[in-house]
Amino acid sequence: MRIVITDLSVIYERGLPDERAAVSGVTLSVDQGESVAIAGPTGSGKTSLLEVMAGLVAPTSGTAALEGADGTLRSAVGLVYQFPELQFFEESILDEVAFGLRHQGAAEEEIPGIVRNALARAGLDPGLFLDRSPLSLSAGEKRRAALACMIALDRPFLLLDEPSAGIDPAMRERLVKFMLDMLEEGCGLVLVTHDLELAGRVAGRMIILSDGRVVADATPDSIFRDAPLLERLSLDPPPRYQLVNRVKSLAASKAPELERLLLPSVGRHLADVGRR
Ligand SMILES: Nc1ncnc2c1ncn2[C@@H]1O[C@H](COP(=O)(O)OP(=O)(O)O)[C@@H](O)[C@H]1O
Ligand SMILES: [Mg+2]
Repeated sequence: MRIVITDLSVIYERGLPDERAAVSGVTLSVDQGESVAIAGPTGSGKTSLLEVMAGLVAPTSGTAALEGADGTLRSAVGLVYQFPELQFFEESILDEVAFGLRHQGAAEEEIPGIVRNALARAGLDPGLFLDRSPLSLSAGEKRRAALACMIALDRPFLLLDEPSAGIDPAMRERLVKFMLDMLEEGCGLVLVTHDLELAGRVAGRMIILSDGRVVADATPDSIFRDAPLLERLSLDPPPRYQLVNRVKSLAASKAPELERLLLPSVGRHLADVGRR
């Protein structure tokens, strides 16, 4: 099963003075079992692209389809928005998580069991949280409850929009573990994030968007080594790549100088080794 996007464009306010192309000519596909990270500056079209992949926004032109299975993108893909906790509206966590299940047509007697399981997987003790009001939770707990809403739906694809924005390091670790577990179970994962360290830990492939267009689609490793690209888009690679890239650019710009500086010391070192 795969999500296939072909020559996709999304234009908002079409025909109006503030018409704006959010996505322009994007072609890509995501397989079940694959993990793809998407990064790019604010306004580069990441959320719009996710909304199309989830079947929530229709393409202005081009196509978005589910291939290799019956059903629609909407039924196969779960999207967790950035700050999903802003969308809670039920009186209890039980009803909040059950909402999507009911909408999906789950049998009423199965719902409590599914909700309990989803809460536990998201890191919330069902015994303590089922009857709480979503609005009474801490920020981290709200994020977990939002995740539970999606886990309960058990879709083959899960799209997460900036899941690490505004969470503490412990929750971030939990999120990584959660994503790796979902992958292991064969879920397809699309992760929109500025956090390239997080992306490097869970994604096998990385897509960079700029102005609604794909400017890179490659392994995280090769993108993290592309210092000019990252710099142009104000993205910080994981710390160890920052060092590698810095040494590389120094070496390129100051090769003769470096050689003059380094060679004598290397020579001395070899001479030392030779003496021993
Ligand atoms: N519902 C909308 N109506 C009008 N313009 C929108 C809407 N959603 C997004 N945009 C515009 O489309 C562009 C891409 O936005 P978005 O997809 O949210 O990018 P990102 O998630 O990368 O920040 C931006 O210029 C944004 O202002
Ligand atoms: Mg966004």
